[in-house]
Amino acid sequence: MKNAVNKKMTLGVNIDHIAVLREARRINDPDPLMALAICAQNGADQITIHLREDRRHIHDEDAKKIIASSPIPVNLECSINPEIIDIVCELKPHRATLVPENRDEVTTEGGLDVISQSPAIAVAIEKLHEAGIEVSLFVDPAINAIEQSQALEAEMVELHTGHFANVYAMLHSALVHSHHSIEELELPRDDLKVLLDASLERINSSANHAQSIGLEVAAGHGLNYHNVSLMLEVDAIQELNIGQSIIARSVFSGLASAVKEMKQLCQR
Ligand code: PXP
Repeated sequence: MKNAVNKKMTLGVNIDHIAVLREARRINDPDPLMALAICAQNGADQITIHLREDRRHIHDEDAKKIIASSPIPVNLECSINPEIIDIVCELKPHRATLVPENRDEVTTEGGLDVISQSPAIAVAIEKLHEAGIEVSLFVDPAINAIEQSQALEAEMVELHTGHFANVYAMLHSALVHSHHSIEELELPRDDLKVLLDASLERINSSANHAQSIGLEVAAGHGLNYHNVSLMLEVDAIQELNIGQSIIARSVFSGLASAVKEMKQLCQR
């Protein structure tokens, strides 16, 4: 970590939650296409959407329209399920980010297990590359996961920042409350500071290692208006993908201002 001046992160805005809200009524309001236009006009460099196997928010038709009309690159998150990979190959987003998927989870809970699932991931990457789609792997910040991602010929890794964000939230619990019980977060404050530093160091060393072996580096999950500044100190990270905090803020301040404000925080 060092203090680079004038650092600018690429900001990918995840708009799945617009579709979550729409699905609450099963009508076309709010429309993810409208969200795409507002994000693009207000500083988002990329749109991120997750085509889940259960289609709980983004549907195939949304993905098709978003990819066809987006003025900015579309990063499509998906599982390595062969049927989903075939659909993604047809959709041809700018990039596919492979993530683990479990139907019972509220959101993506951990990084892809690139070691034990290596053969299936290799098949998915080969198909995506044949379709001309760049591949990123969503992995935990760990050196073996980074090296395996390179061996699998991914172009990019996205480092899972969920652990960092959880520890940060607990340390600053006056700012951010979580109703989820996470055992290690019941620790005393000093221990939490040590955990936060260790988590940041894992992100920093993983990002540096990934960059040194030729991978592009993104990060995401649980990033918000409070903790994002610490990600800016990790020089090897070039891109952040942020969803929940931007859409949550937009409920009160409007999407244009929520995206503008996050974009400003992504530069120093
Ligand atoms: N990156 C990936 C790979 C994700 O799965 C998610 C959650 O959908 C995000 C980034 C965004 O996380 P959050 O909504 O917590 O900002």
